Amino acid sequence: MTDFPSFPPGFVFGAATASYQIEGAVQEDGRGPSIWDTYSHTPGLVANGDTGDVACDHYHRYPQDVALLRELGVDSYRFSIAWPRIVPEGTGPVNPKGLDFYSRLVDELLAAGIEPAATLYHWDLPQALEDGGGWRVRETAERFAEYAAVVAGHLGDRVPRWITLNEPWCSAFLGYSVGRHAPGAREGRGALAAAHHLLVGHGLAVRALRATGVREVGVTLNLDHNLPATDSPTDRAAVTRADTQHNLVWTEPILAGRYPATEEETWGELITGQDFRRDGDLELISQPLDFLGVNYYRPTVVADAPYRESDPAQRVATDNRYAEVPMPGVRRTAMGWAVAPHTFTALLMGLKERYGDALPPLHITENGSAEDDEVSPDGAVHDSDRVAYLRDHLTALRTAMDAGVDVRGYYVWSLLDNFEWAFGYGKRFGIVRVDYATQRRTPKDSYHWYRSMIAAQRR
Ligand code: FCB
Repeated sequence: MTDFPSFPPGFVFGAATASYQIEGAVQEDGRGPSIWDTYSHTPGLVANGDTGDVACDHYHRYPQDVALLRELGVDSYRFSIAWPRIVPEGTGPVNPKGLDFYSRLVDELLAAGIEPAATLYHWDLPQALEDGGGWRVRETAERFAEYAAVVAGHLGDRVPRWITLNEPWCSAFLGYSVGRHAPGAREGRGALAAAHHLLVGHGLAVRALRATGVREVGVTLNLDHNLPATDSPTDRAAVTRADTQHNLVWTEPILAGRYPATEEETWGELITGQDFRRDGDLELISQPLDFLGVNYYRPTVVADAPYRESDPAQRVATDNRYAEVPMPGVRRTAMGWAVAPHTFTALLMGLKERYGDALPPLHITENGSAEDDEVSPDGAVHDSDRVAYLRDHLTALRTAMDAGVDVRGYYVWSLLDNFEWAFGYGKRFGIVRVDYATQRRTPKDSYHWYRSMIAAQRR
């Protein structure tokens, strides 16, 4: 087939998932509760009252899911480790049965010829740590590094690629400012403290991972491509604030060892009056990485919007002082997200422009789309919109690589339909359909397309 984008030899193709979204078995083998158990069991917070109690039952069905990966022909599988399976109380005793589960999964992957890529934190914080302050407090970062050391000590010889955090923006701002993710807090300063302690946790975990001699260490960020609604100075200033809050808050400390120059105009006294930063933090946070993971789904168009004085939490909320406006003339996915693949190229080129040689090689650790899939009478899922989305984003990625951005791998989100956080099971991102009543897996057209695309690279 001629219409597959082509990638250099050695380029890694993968698929990604996350523990709470697929595993289920939340009370099995000594797993402790996480903030997502608490959040999803609080009435009214997750669509349809959905929880991750069963999810895709991957905890029991992982051999079947690894077989799907093998058949797909991916080089690598990105999964996350549930902290509360390993250290149920967040601190104290380690649960050997939790380690065993991931050990079996890793062995199954290796036997299938698939490289494991493990994310240490994809949002399921042990509830006991949240009770002690969660990411608002520095102790959580220290506990995270202890947990990282335990896991890497156990699996480091078999897992070559490690990701400390997944999308810390979501943990800090959706979790502690707008309350749309666990733990559902609506705070101003708390969110900024959480952002800082996530960065510190990343730095401490990098150190712990390095001490065990693992091959590759990185972090995954969801970076936004923010465009101004109009060319007015106020809308452009709104873009600066959005860039600061979504991107620079992470990339500046991690890649450049400094805090964003625009943080004061973005957060005012919430950041100038803070006391959570310590000497030495920037050195810790900016340790060299082997790769940067980038998750990308859609562009954001932002307009200036007034600050709501009455609600200080809104100072750091996503919809304050800038508002998202729809991008005209583009298709939207089932999430309502604009489909504009050229913005993916632009984002990657902008990163390269800003950080130059300080930018490590990239892995696209998530990209994909939720669509209103239908099962045809023949039992198949003809998800042509998802196929087009994947094809166009891979092509856009290739364009960025041609322009000099060093990208080493791409992981589709997601292998399976799964628990899409506050949206519950209603939003389907999988290239494999999951019938939640029967747990039956059905590869969609996008799975077959991705499989052929990978096979075409190897001819
Ligand atoms: C990302 C998350 C992932 C999934 C996708 C759709 O923000 O990392 O778990 O929910 O979005």
